[in-house]
Amino acid sequence: MIQLENNVFHLGNECYSCLLRLDPNGPVQQLHFGEPVCAEDASAFLYNPGLGWGSSVLLNSDDTGSCMDTMPLAWSGSGRGDYRESPLEVGFATDFKYVSHRIHSGTVPMTSGLPQAQGGEETLELVLEQPGLRLRMYFTLFETAMTRRAVLENTGDAPITLRKLMSFMTDLPGSYEITTFDGGWCAEMRRHTLPVLDSRVVNESTTGASSNRHNPGFLLHEPGAGETHGRVYGFNLVYSGNFDITADCDYYETTRVNIGINPDGFTWHLDPGEEFQTPEAVLVYTDKGIGEMSRIFHRLYLNNLVRGRYKTEKRPLLINSWEAAYFDFDTDKLVSFAERAKEVGIEMLVMDDGWFGVRNSDNCSLGDWYVNEDKLPGGLGVLIDRINALGLKFGIWYEPEMISPDSDLYRAHPDWCIHVPNRDKSIARQQYVIDMSRQDVRDNIFGQMYDVLSKYKIDYVKWDFNRNITEAGSALLSAPRGEEFFHRFVLGTYDLMNRLTEAFPDILLENCSGGGGRFDPGMLYYSPQIWASDNTDALERIAIQFGTSMCYPASTMGAHVSMSRRTGFATKGNVAMWGTFGYELDPNRLSEKDVELVKEQVKEYHRTYDLIHYGDLYRVTCPWENSYRSAWEFVAPDKSEMLFTSVTLRYYHCMKYIVRFKGLDPEKTYLLEGTDKRYSGAFLMNAGLNLSKYPHSTGESFTLHFIAE
Ligand code: GLA
Repeated sequence: MIQLENNVFHLGNECYSCLLRLDPNGPVQQLHFGEPVCAEDASAFLYNPGLGWGSSVLLNSDDTGSCMDTMPLAWSGSGRGDYRESPLEVGFATDFKYVSHRIHSGTVPMTSGLPQAQGGEETLELVLEQPGLRLRMYFTLFETAMTRRAVLENTGDAPITLRKLMSFMTDLPGSYEITTFDGGWCAEMRRHTLPVLDSRVVNESTTGASSNRHNPGFLLHEPGAGETHGRVYGFNLVYSGNFDITADCDYYETTRVNIGINPDGFTWHLDPGEEFQTPEAVLVYTDKGIGEMSRIFHRLYLNNLVRGRYKTEKRPLLINSWEAAYFDFDTDKLVSFAERAKEVGIEMLVMDDGWFGVRNSDNCSLGDWYVNEDKLPGGLGVLIDRINALGLKFGIWYEPEMISPDSDLYRAHPDWCIHVPNRDKSIARQQYVIDMSRQDVRDNIFGQMYDVLSKYKIDYVKWDFNRNITEAGSALLSAPRGEEFFHRFVLGTYDLMNRLTEAFPDILLENCSGGGGRFDPGMLYYSPQIWASDNTDALERIAIQFGTSMCYPASTMGAHVSMSRRTGFATKGNVAMWGTFGYELDPNRLSEKDVELVKEQVKEYHRTYDLIHYGDLYRVTCPWENSYRSAWEFVAPDKSEMLFTSVTLRYYHCMKYIVRFKGLDPEKTYLLEGTDKRYSGAFLMNAGLNLSKYPHSTGESFTLHFIAE
């Protein structure tokens, strides 16, 4: 619902409210974003200091409420007395004033090729101007969340250079803690919390992708907020390139947050009449704790961001060749994997890296996307026919944004890799990044992919991106557009993904970036699942999965059982079951005992698929709260069943392990599967069960399945 009353817009519903006041002096104030309130309450949020603001500047000397430096704002300029961080830099002072607004039903589609949440209920478009510039801010309301974005138009008669344009800024009264998710390769999504004080906190990516160093999803919360309690804001940027998130809290205890494309390494040239659209950001608010914030994100992403056939259709259970064979495979070996996989109930074989050009190690052939017939005699058709004949589907690996210096493509087009003239090109994993900002490059890669994907029966594509960007430049981009490269690269990647998903709507696309190096909402718009980490050790994965689950639903989180040694098969299965589930091993090396366990896991996968893919996640014991064990639950949306999983990270001599379960219906009676024990939901949530008798040596785990009667 969007209403305008007494110059105050009220946006919201029973979950949240946002109050935007049109200040008579021009700026748009954000009086409130948080718990639901009434528009009539707006005046209570106005603050007028009586004694004045000391050295601060007033917009209107007769109005002591007109101090830009202390107003809670929905947007700010620079050079007009607001000394906090501005969301915009154009090289001159800016002072935007409200001029008009429109209320649109639904979502206003973006025209810049950026991904965007679909199916919003209503959108408020606020138009602000200053001489030479028009700013449009979009606020789109969803059932339990809101999105925001900005568009800047050059309305003057001279070109301007945009140095920074954030997707949104917001001022929130009070001081908060910020929790971010940071790490590196094989160690993604480590949780860090720190107070937001007067110094600016920065959470950013500069690698060219959203990166495994920092995720664009983060939280602001009141100190002490936990999984089940506390006021929490969640934010995320629907973008897969360099991002920048800043927060600081001023002397008046207002916290300002800016989110958008990283201005570091960014400029955009705007000729008169041109505009720039920012990526969209997602905003979530709840007073019910961090767990509820996650569930809001999960529902929004499942309902409004993930698209295509596999948004709702059951995905095939896969086995991937990477950790089973690396580059060392041929048709017979892959078929032998498929034969054994078939016996245990696996539904798809994915041939990972190494099938194209002359690639037998990571030192060549990226860009030569035609089959290596030395390895696969007779080509893909022969292999796929044999796999299909077994009743398995077939998937394949690509790394479309990369080029090996030792490749036919590079030899033919040395200027197609990212580079800056007269500078050495940095190499990583023996490869360069290909120039996705170029249409001709994208056409070539799309053409090569089309040839393979249209000719053969391919059900799945894993799209990888294995190195960071350096020497960020294109042979076709020169001044004044040189620093547009990073964003143009991301737009190019989105364009290619768009062409691919439109041409092959039935292919299940899984993103990957050396594991979880590009796990962001932008990628989820194209692929319903993303490989979460190259670290397949079940115990180390737990922290990665807890961190990933903060914003991203289980059905998006690529998770496989591998041969990693620290735990037995049962725990590997229990941990991977939290995600998309699959296998990453040579099935012919499984012991007979493990084969039986795999068969059990496959049955469990089918039985719990809907519960995990569409159910609600409750993080019961988080690894950052307890170093001995981790536990989580999936509860069906109608609360008719619940699956609890507990993993011991470190042995402890435990006399009592009491768990109070979460998210159940207090009125329902639940049967603990495999027993004749029945408990009311109220009992399970309030008194809980003593689980001390279950296995709890290091690496052991167990599940409990409760079914309502
Ligand atoms: C990345 C991926 C792996 C695998 C290899 C292949 O590291 O994360 O899963 O696909 O590339 O080179």
